[in-house]
Amino acid sequence: MEKIVNILGFAGSLRKDSYNKALLRAALELVPKDAKLEAFSLEGIPPFNQDLENQPPEKVKEFKAKIRAADAILIATPEANYTLPGVLINAMNWASRPYGDNAFDGKPVAVMGATIGMLGTARAQYHLRQSFVFLNMIPLNQPEVMVPFVQEKIDKNGRLTDQKTKEKIGELLVNLVSWTKRLRGA
Ligand SMILES: Cc1cc2nc3c(=O)[nH]c(=O)nc-3n(C[C@H](O)[C@H](O)[C@H](O)COP(=O)(O)O)c2cc1C
Repeated sequence: MEKIVNILGFAGSLRKDSYNKALLRAALELVPKDAKLEAFSLEGIPPFNQDLENQPPEKVKEFKAKIRAADAILIATPEANYTLPGVLINAMNWASRPYGDNAFDGKPVAVMGATIGMLGTARAQYHLRQSFVFLNMIPLNQPEVMVPFVQEKIDKNGRLTDQKTKEKIGELLVNLVSWTKRLRGA
């Protein structure tokens, strides 16, 4: 029987009504049959302190263990001041440390993001892709899922209603699964 691809997803926002969390919730419903997606909340990860990198907080240990157990990573990120939100880069800094114990090493990764603005998190996503080089993650290039004016695409219950965006997220997941299998040599 074909092995299921386990994906760990997280959003770079702690906001209760986060649009990026809503994209991740939509992804949970769109995941292909040969994959499983688990959403992990970054809530509770403290600001990075290198003095503690060898004895990280429990939440960081849990995050690193989940990353290591996953076959692939899915990141939903907003954009803050034209770059990555602090909450996301902070969590990734913890997970990449101490030097030589980078939990992301060699993981396939896909990115999506939503903004109330016009450029759909493009700048944040390209900055994230730059970090993938040092983290030695293996990013999926296509499709690029950048959702502008997201407030028009989510209903009052936080559900993604826009059909085109759903299709893009579905395509992203299918491609991430085949990318992961390809890297595995399956
Ligand atoms: C500090 C801050 C900086 C922001 N900077 C940008 C930005 O550079 N580009 C952009 O498109 N939106 C920016 N926004 C708007 C966010 O896209 C918007 O708040 C979005 O809803 C945040 O994502 P979330 O809904 O997942 O929490 C900014 C918002 C905040 C709070």
